[in-house]
Amino acid sequence: MSTVVISGAQWGDEGKGKIVDYLAAQADTVVRFQGGSNAGHTVTVNDEEYKLRLLPSGILYKGTTCVIGNGVVVDPQTLLEEIDSMKARGVDTSGIKLSNRAHVVMPWHKLIDELGEALRGENKIGTTKRGIGPCYIDKADRIGIRICDLIDREEFALKVAQVLQTKNLILEKVYNHAPLNADEIIREYEGYAERLRPFVCDTIALLNEQVDAGKKILFEGAQATMLDIDYGTYPYVTSSHPISGGVGVGAGVAPKKIDKVFGVVKAYCTRVGEGPFPTEQLNEIGDKLRIAGHEFGTVTGRPRRTGWLDACIVKYAGQLSGTDYMAVTRLDILDDFDEIKMCTAYKINGEVLNEIPASLKVLAKVEPVYETFAGWKTDISKIRNYEDLPANAKKYLERMAEVTGIKIGIVSVGPNREQTIVLAKNIF
Ligand code: GDP
Ligand code: IMO
Ligand code: MG
Repeated sequence: MSTVVISGAQWGDEGKGKIVDYLAAQADTVVRFQGGSNAGHTVTVNDEEYKLRLLPSGILYKGTTCVIGNGVVVDPQTLLEEIDSMKARGVDTSGIKLSNRAHVVMPWHKLIDELGEALRGENKIGTTKRGIGPCYIDKADRIGIRICDLIDREEFALKVAQVLQTKNLILEKVYNHAPLNADEIIREYEGYAERLRPFVCDTIALLNEQVDAGKKILFEGAQATMLDIDYGTYPYVTSSHPISGGVGVGAGVAPKKIDKVFGVVKAYCTRVGEGPFPTEQLNEIGDKLRIAGHEFGTVTGRPRRTGWLDACIVKYAGQLSGTDYMAVTRLDILDDFDEIKMCTAYKINGEVLNEIPASLKVLAKVEPVYETFAGWKTDISKIRNYEDLPANAKKYLERMAEVTGIKIGIVSVGPNREQTIVLAKNIF
């Protein structure tokens, strides 16, 4: 086994960064395949925190190849700031590879993301305002600018001038905003191009050679299943495919070359931004989860919405990604609860549903069916073997596996590397 996908099974912030960093100790290469700097992946080593947006969470290991694949939308300024801050902390950045086919987030993308949200008013999505949606829109509209264009001075100037004609019309006529200046943007981005050039290559060729050579590759999903543009709570989603299938299109590695899939599942549930969340707890329980879990966004600092674990969506994520194992994170956050609930089914008008409703109107009417578990009231953060977990914690995990039909492969009991219990054998 040499290729492993790590995908979020809920609404993001499950702890994908922690799990990827843990497994990256054994990997040759770590690959981001979708999303952009809307991601905020935290890696903690010896209590020191690293917050990653575009760089793969394998960056902390010297000599690991860190690929930003073609499916990612890249904000060059953010990427360079991240590289600089890593270098300043003594991290080896020589393994970074940037796809020449990845799309570039331009100033108009970020501006239109912000103006669009303001215009939507009450119907806003609650985006991270990083220009993600507008950049993917331009990719699909075939007016996007790619990294291969960015590093071609003439081509880049030509494309910016061309695209900006339309964008300025939109800015002025739709948003009543001042136009952007092409020359200023070209000058700014030429600086980024020169600095990024050494990292640029054909990552598709690179990755397929590595797969054929049997190298150990981790594919790091950003966002999560319920934010997937097809499978999530549309339109309250992101604009890419965080499910394991996203690897095929976002990294150029064919589905039949994927060996294993891990779904990262927070032991309870959170969501940032707008949209349905059937197990949300708008009460003291939700407040307790937010405080115990320090649930505030890495990218935007917004308080995260909190609720009980929804095993229905984890099961759905498992179907969509072909998940072999769950990596259950933040189990320690539940240490102080007398009682813990898990949603194990959805009902509408007393009838159990066998699917996740597409219609948000229907989803809003869903009644979660809860099972109640006694808490363990013990500090589990120092436990390193599954057998040593309190019986009540094991009952909770075992029921999770039963309802979702997915085996538990990893249990995380704290943010640090060593706070990890591994049950799955031979992950690579
Ligand atoms: P990601 O976006 O999926 O990578 O998750 P984030 O990094 O946005 O949020 C997860 C947070 O939980 C980070 O602050 C992690 O350091 C932290 N974390 C990860 N696993 C654990 C765990 O098992 N226990 C605790 N207490 N924190 C964890
Ligand atoms: P990681 O990788 C949690 C949410 C935003 C918003 C919606 C659309 O850290 O898990 P976008 O800026 O993508 O157009 O916003 O998606 N969102 C995330 N929520 N974790 C993330 O990433 C997210 N990335 C986007 O809050 O609701
Ligand atoms: Mg995050």
